[in-house]
Amino acid sequence: MSTIDLSALQQQLHAAGQDHLWPHVDKLSGAARAALLQRLAALDLRLVQELGALMSLGAGASAPTFEPPEVFDLQERTSQRAREATQAGQELLSQGKVGYLLVAGGQASRLGYEGPKGCFPIGPVTGRSLFEIFARRLHAVRKRYGVQTPWYVMTSEGNDAHTRAFFAQHHHFGLPADEIVFFSQAMLPALDSQGRILMASPTELFLAPNGHGGSLMALQSSGALRAAGERGVEVFSYFQVDNPLAPPADPLFLGLHALDGAQMSSKVVKKRDAWEKVGVLGKVDGKLSCIEYSDLPEQLRLETNEHGELRYSAGNIALHVIERAFVERLVSGRLELPWHIAKKKIPTIDAQGQPTSVDGCKFETFVFDALALTERSTIVEVERRHEFSPVKNKDGDDSPATTRRDLCAMHATWAAEAGVALPPADPHGNVQIEIDPMYAESAQEFAARGPKHRMTHSQGGHYYGEAHP
Ligand code: UD1
Repeated sequence: MSTIDLSALQQQLHAAGQDHLWPHVDKLSGAARAALLQRLAALDLRLVQELGALMSLGAGASAPTFEPPEVFDLQERTSQRAREATQAGQELLSQGKVGYLLVAGGQASRLGYEGPKGCFPIGPVTGRSLFEIFARRLHAVRKRYGVQTPWYVMTSEGNDAHTRAFFAQHHHFGLPADEIVFFSQAMLPALDSQGRILMASPTELFLAPNGHGGSLMALQSSGALRAAGERGVEVFSYFQVDNPLAPPADPLFLGLHALDGAQMSSKVVKKRDAWEKVGVLGKVDGKLSCIEYSDLPEQLRLETNEHGELRYSAGNIALHVIERAFVERLVSGRLELPWHIAKKKIPTIDAQGQPTSVDGCKFETFVFDALALTERSTIVEVERRHEFSPVKNKDGDDSPATTRRDLCAMHATWAAEAGVALPPADPHGNVQIEIDPMYAESAQEFAARGPKHRMTHSQGGHYYGEAHP
């Protein structure tokens, strides 16, 4: 721990309007005092002041214009362009130019799961964790293309140690440990309505991860970005920890992005209905952007086109391809992603140190706001049932039950197409079947391999895989 110039720190806090913090320091001694001082010294007080000032600004007066984006849609998948793109993507993959970027720094508060979301057991038959399913997808890429698959896993302070321990405990799921790079995003304090930094307890500041936009800066500050360049990574395939259907190495997507000379590209699915809680890609005042579900006005949500379909239907599934050089450009100065302010009840302490809660704000940047900074960007429509079923909530939509249902439904289709007998449906009408990504990743692959390696699980579900789970 470095020594801290106390009077300079006190002065800086004063200048930043954060005098209220000092009495908390003064109540402490020993290690707790030293730890709080370290925290305070590490704060970017200039940023905190800017965020405080943002809170007091109202929304802009003029309403922005929205336009649907151009999308490479499902019908175009059989085109000559799609064939060329697939080939270009396969080349990128087999040259080992793709790095895999997983954002797993969120707090999983809606799921109500203790521990990193990636540890959540989601495999419908095997109970495999989200992390393990992704790892097995990467194994499949290694095998198919004969390459290494450098995997950049973003954590945050609250789940970093637990995440690393989970990987170590599972021997990195058989992947070489040096190909998995953990890096942690930065944390930001929550502020009260006067812009004052809130304490979480008598000894700690209230800190929260700075949003997945923080992945871009953290790639750089951790050294992972430079190391990625040194090992020949040219593009990052970006995915979220909550979606076990995400295919990390899609040649068509990578190839369309490359042929278009795009800096950052996205996959979308057609929104299920006007109220589905997904962001929508579109042009805001002419600039590509993602409009969060909470920000899309009702009139626009419901607006339909001449075919009677939702006009704003390009649902963001948070799968992106991002050029390494684009990340380097963005982080070479001050990263100019807009701040999103979430007004929340923040659990804190009062002046006497007693627990209470106040109206406050948390601050995040979002990775998709980098789309507005691209010169070119490709948007590719994909089929929801093949690529998107996120685990967000404890129950209801986008919960473990719906994700397991969707995994089983996809695998049951593959098995049925291959003429393989399915296990009987459970009382909810679900057929319990799980196919290991290392065994087959599509209906065609499954048909080619056939039902050679079936294991019947104790609960009657069928599992097809390389090894017994
Ligand atoms: C997100 C997108 C939404 C999209 C949906 C698709 C945002 C704001 N919205 O919604 O447009 O339609 O996914 O599933 O992202 N994360 C971090 N660090 C953070 C915050 C989040 O790593 O500081 C990670 C989480 O671990 C998770 C992902 O980012 O993997 C998404 O975060 P979450 O807050 O769950 O986003 P959603 O509101 O569900």
